[in-house]
Amino acid sequence: MQQQDVAKKAAGEKATEYIKPNMTIGLGTGSTAYYAIMRIGEMVSGGMPLRAVATSEQSEQLARKQGIPIIPFSEIDRIDLDIDGADEVDEHLRLIKGGGGALLREKIVAAASAEMIVITDESKVVKHLGRFPLPVEIIPFAWELTFRRLIALDAAPVLRTSNGRTVVTDNGNFILDCHYERIKDPVALHQQLNDIPGVVENGLFLHYASRVIIGYADGSVKSL
Ligand code: 5RP
Repeated sequence: MQQQDVAKKAAGEKATEYIKPNMTIGLGTGSTAYYAIMRIGEMVSGGMPLRAVATSEQSEQLARKQGIPIIPFSEIDRIDLDIDGADEVDEHLRLIKGGGGALLREKIVAAASAEMIVITDESKVVKHLGRFPLPVEIIPFAWELTFRRLIALDAAPVLRTSNGRTVVTDNGNFILDCHYERIKDPVALHQQLNDIPGVVENGLFLHYASRVIIGYADGSVKSL
């Protein structure tokens, strides 16, 4: 296992220690959330009663494969604990998310959760948000107009593609990765982006994380 994976596994597994019987868990998306989901699968096989909702088709499939009961949103009144990764985390526990393209569902689940634990390796911890391109989910209709609005805001947007094809999210939308290098005022930017017609949501998570667990290459963890 590579060093970064050791760190991700350590963080992902540590977060599962906060799970109590009968909780409803929000399952994040990405390579760090993978380790949390695998561990939750083991807990369920070991007899721990819990249920979960997923933030992506990918995580839902993985969870079902591990025997984790996935319930429809119509059946939940609350999510007790959301465990998810991040692309950047600052000292105020503000995040950039969406590198894996799941930011919209991730934000909906985070907003509905009593607590959000973010799991990450040390490479994601930054002094200022923005080096990681900020993902912005937009609807495909007239996307070029939305793109131009973002250019006018100096976002330097790039339409996300994979193998030459436009990436389509689980919600049927596109992603524009916006290059700021340093986001001076995340609160203002969050508002400015979401005010643009065509923008569905952006990857700034400013007041959701209650705890950040950082994993290190030697398998140790630290909590923020
Ligand atoms: C997906 C996300 C992920 O949490 C983020 O990209 C981190 O992924 P990884 O754990 O693979 O580094 O926001 O939309």
